Amino acid sequence: MKKSHFPEGFLWGGATAANQLEGAYNEGGKGLSIFDMVAFVPKEERGHEIEMDVRSEAELEALLAGNGSDNFPKRRGIDFYHRYKEDIALFAEMGFKTFRMSISWPRIFPNGDETVPNEEGLAFYDRVFDELQKHGIEPLVTLSHYELPLHLVQKYNGWTDRRLVEYFVHYAETVFNRYKDKVKYWLTFNEINVSTISPYIGSGILVDRVENREQAVYQALHHQFVASARAVKACHEIIPGALIGCMLARMETYAETCSPDDVLAALEEDQKNLFFTDVQVRGYYPSYMNRYFEENDIKIDMLPGDEEILLQHPVDFLSFSYYMTMVSSGSPDKMKEKGNFFSGIPNPYLEASDWGWQIDPKGLRITLKKMYDRYQVPLFIVENGLGAYDKVEEDGSIQDDYRIDYMSAHIEQMGEAIKDGVEVMGYTSWGCIDLISAGTSEMSKRYGFIYVDQDDYGNGTLERKKKKSFDWYKNVIATNGAEL
Ligand code: BG6
Repeated sequence: MKKSHFPEGFLWGGATAANQLEGAYNEGGKGLSIFDMVAFVPKEERGHEIEMDVRSEAELEALLAGNGSDNFPKRRGIDFYHRYKEDIALFAEMGFKTFRMSISWPRIFPNGDETVPNEEGLAFYDRVFDELQKHGIEPLVTLSHYELPLHLVQKYNGWTDRRLVEYFVHYAETVFNRYKDKVKYWLTFNEINVSTISPYIGSGILVDRVENREQAVYQALHHQFVASARAVKACHEIIPGALIGCMLARMETYAETCSPDDVLAALEEDQKNLFFTDVQVRGYYPSYMNRYFEENDIKIDMLPGDEEILLQHPVDFLSFSYYMTMVSSGSPDKMKEKGNFFSGIPNPYLEASDWGWQIDPKGLRITLKKMYDRYQVPLFIVENGLGAYDKVEEDGSIQDDYRIDYMSAHIEQMGEAIKDGVEVMGYTSWGCIDLISAGTSEMSKRYGFIYVDQDDYGNGTLERKKKKSFDWYKNVIATNGAEL
């Protein structure tokens, strides 16, 4: 057998989120969450990929009244709520060491601002954690993965309201106390930077209710930073030995050319992305961001003690999702051209997925090396993978060689960074079982090693089938990354 570069005990596994997986949106006492309100929009009618934001109260009321759509894919997920035993058995068959999942906040507190939790919701996750334990799989649990209780949007306009800090901390303490003997790895907010592009999904903000969108988003983020630091503190107090991390949608930005203007533009774009981990890992607001706030009339209201909380309770490790890299130019006109997914211009050296996400395995190595240079804390890749259309062949097989190629190239580059001494705790590929897409609510954008028979409209048997990549990943784990 080839030699592995991955450390002993490396946490191989897969990643999911409650809102894209569980279904059963109105069972077990669960309240509505923000993503339960996002309707499916067919590709031909989609303006931009990010169609998931609800912007006004009127829009929300119409959705609640059932006007316009009856197709809300995240409400049905893939029915993990009822099929978790079968799914976990398949993860165990692949040899997963860890399974990343989230707790749906409105399953525990249906409205978000109650004091007494919903026992049925707590009991569900007890069953899931017990099942994982039975198979020797460590849960890695995200406290908030786009699952804000809808009531907190309606009553408080989401995280713009300081009171959410207390509600979140109460929720976090409740689950830490309940699961302290079952869960050792935690994450606070999934892709905390998403609010800047999607205020509703990231922070529960209806933008029509605020005067200045950017001001509202950064104020909401301040509340989330404080809530996250308080959760770190509570986690350490309640679960000795537990590790808790932050989570960033990492977007490494390259300069279009070696012109100093392009290099500076790329650096500043990168800083906007690293701002979040600067606060959560270093424990204070970086000076470049204070300048940005000043020049853009953004005033962050802080309470006495906030800065101490941030400084005293940084995260134990830094986790991130990695799907693509960006390119920036110093010329504003070029930046307006439509290019890669979020912003930026296309990279002529890279190919893209069917959804325009540019594929860059070496970018993962660059990301790992730069992040480790900057922070010197353990890193955890908690999302990476290829969204693709899969075809079930006549013999029932799914030959997803493109996914194997994508993942082996990324894992190889991760191994190279590890050889350089970068501390990586683990790798959980996104959507290890096909689930509902966050960005487009499609079922047909598939990431899994396990195929789920369901289409964009909820038709299908929900039967689970192993794809070709299933055995491939099983062998990757069995050889601790030596055979790709
Ligand atoms: C990340 C999210 O943005 O990327 C996941 O944390 C999401 O929830 C994943 O599913 C892939 O995005 P999409 O839009 O292809 O589902």
